Amino acid sequence: MPPSAALRAPLGDKPGLAPLTVTVLEPHLARDGRMPEVRYVGFEAGAVLTRVLGAGWRAPGQELEFRALDGFVSRIPVERFAQHRAWLVTARADGRAFEVDNHLQGERQVPLGPYYLVWDNRASKALQAEGGALWPYQVTTVRVGPSSMRALLPGDLAATYAGAADLARTHCLSCHRVRGYGGDKMPLDLDVVVKGYDAATWRRWLLEPAAVRPGTTMPALAEGMPAAERAAIAQRLYDYLRALPPGTPAR
Ligand code: HEC
Repeated sequence: MPPSAALRAPLGDKPGLAPLTVTVLEPHLARDGRMPEVRYVGFEAGAVLTRVLGAGWRAPGQELEFRALDGFVSRIPVERFAQHRAWLVTARADGRAFEVDNHLQGERQVPLGPYYLVWDNRASKALQAEGGALWPYQVTTVRVGPSSMRALLPGDLAATYAGAADLARTHCLSCHRVRGYGGDKMPLDLDVVVKGYDAATWRRWLLEPAAVRPGTTMPALAEGMPAAERAAIAQRLYDYLRALPPGTPAR
């Protein structure tokens, strides 16, 4: 059983965990590719994780799973925490309500607490382009375990599709699943539903879901990226998902 910990108790009074004020470009408030700066109060993510999971969480090849109240799941390779600074924040620095209007998913006044994982994206164009896919909010538990790549890349698929599986994990598996692996916000198995799509219909749905189904809360894929790159990602996901053999491994 991988170690898992609830993130509920107030952390501020724990020794070695001093609250910080941090500034990020808020992807959930992106409008026309521009993100406003927001200041939050929170804690260095690595320090919190070490406190709740023990120092072993940093071992290479593992993955952290952040699970939210509404079933949203972010699985993030531990290596990313060595590459980029992250914080678990608990309030806005300006004292306003700890919530966002999530433009990406057409949701308003979404509460962010108890914990919201944010990244130091001000100096990184790559993080900015990624959007909010790996910014889970309403986080209540965190778990560390083996990488999902084994489930996502059965047989010899890794040779061809490792990159595509990584894209699926970043952009889709917070809400959906592949072979039973992923989030429950909108629990459907993409490797199954993809069989009902031709490539053009698939691309159109991923790139402009609101144009296909007005009012949908499915976010458009990586809106911060250039159109050609977005289309290429949609196609890679399509090819990968169609290549998966049937079958749902145990979770
Ligand atoms: C934030 C959550 C979220 C993320 C991330 C997300 N989706 Fe969705 N997806 C939804 C919701 C909600 C629906 C239901 C849409 C509706 O009916 O309005 C949906 C519906 C779908 C459907 C349609 C199922 C059907 O036939 O009715 C497909 C296919 C799909 N998503 C694929 C993807 C792919 C591929 C990705 C990654 C590029 C992705 N989704 C990312 C929330 C999400």
